[in-house]
Amino acid sequence: MTNADFERIVDTSDEWITTRTGIKERRIARDHIQTSDMALEACRAAMEMASCRPDEIDALIVGTVTPDYPLPSTACVVQEKMPLPNAVAFDVVAACAGFINGLAIARSMIEIGSARKVLVAGAEKLSSITNYEDRGTCVLFGDGAGAVVLEASVGDRGVISTFLRSDGSMRKWLWIEAGGTNRPITKDFPFDHTDKILMNGSDIYKVAVREMTRACLKVLDDCGLTADDVALVVPHQANIRIIEAVAKRLHIELDRFYLNIDRYGNTSAASVPLALDEANRAGKIKPGDNILMVAFGGGLIWGSALVTW
Ligand code: ACO
Repeated sequence: MTNADFERIVDTSDEWITTRTGIKERRIARDHIQTSDMALEACRAAMEMASCRPDEIDALIVGTVTPDYPLPSTACVVQEKMPLPNAVAFDVVAACAGFINGLAIARSMIEIGSARKVLVAGAEKLSSITNYEDRGTCVLFGDGAGAVVLEASVGDRGVISTFLRSDGSMRKWLWIEAGGTNRPITKDFPFDHTDKILMNGSDIYKVAVREMTRACLKVLDDCGLTADDVALVVPHQANIRIIEAVAKRLHIELDRFYLNIDRYGNTSAASVPLALDEANRAGKIKPGDNILMVAFGGGLIWGSALVTW
């Protein structure tokens, strides 16, 4: 869906969307495509790249806020479709930080020895929770999925450090009011869009810049590294201006950030793994590179990870 498509449905312009967000296009899944279908494709591609068989996977973690069903988890749906006979499968609800949270959980499972190979995916059908009458949010979001296989290894490479944090006092800055126990959708439910994303973008923007910067510095500090040691930053793709502001504060040139926001928009939990996979397949990552990942989203929740490839 292009910016021109949005010009036809809400009061907006390609110029506004491009200059305020950096987004030109986003991918919208067809009605019959569910979050699990996209997650499945991504998991299969990751397993193929890792030369890994389904029976070797000990756990599947899917970051998503757009599950196929309220119950069971989307991860369990993917498990059945794959199938993954020897795995535990569960979702992580951490909005745009869903993949980083999944990565941190997977790392812990491997480090304590409860898993050897873990599939971590981020998958979203944000179009299903987007209010296409709200110009302040509808132009931002897209659908997609990405995944990685994490496995136990010895040596200096791998997920070296992770950092996770949230602040629930700002939860209503980005939320869906209806559809849970607080405001169930009943037969008298008014068509008032409260079952779709509502966002206070400008306040989130400021916290996102501050906390994404801090999260990056925290994992670098934990590893005894500096910004100069980072080969590539793979940030959550919410807004090009947020990424530029973080780059400036970290003193890392923008050309060391992987950017694809122009083509996908904000895909929430899928954003970081989508960008990571694109960067990898484009040959922008080589063994030994320090990759810094960082994400921020509704909760509010944020996190970072330092990976030596
Ligand atoms: N087209 C034209 N005008 C628009 C549009 C649009 N699509 N959207 C908003 N405007 C208008 C507003 O109505 C406002 O007009 P007014 O001044 O007459 O009231 C004006 O543009 C400025 O609006 P702001 O909201 O202040 O614009 P801002 O520069 O802050 O950009 C944006 C908005 C892009 C949403 C930005 O605030 C942002 O990116 N915030 C962070 C979003 C984010 O990171 N969310 C977390 C992750 S998402 C997740 O977890 C699922």
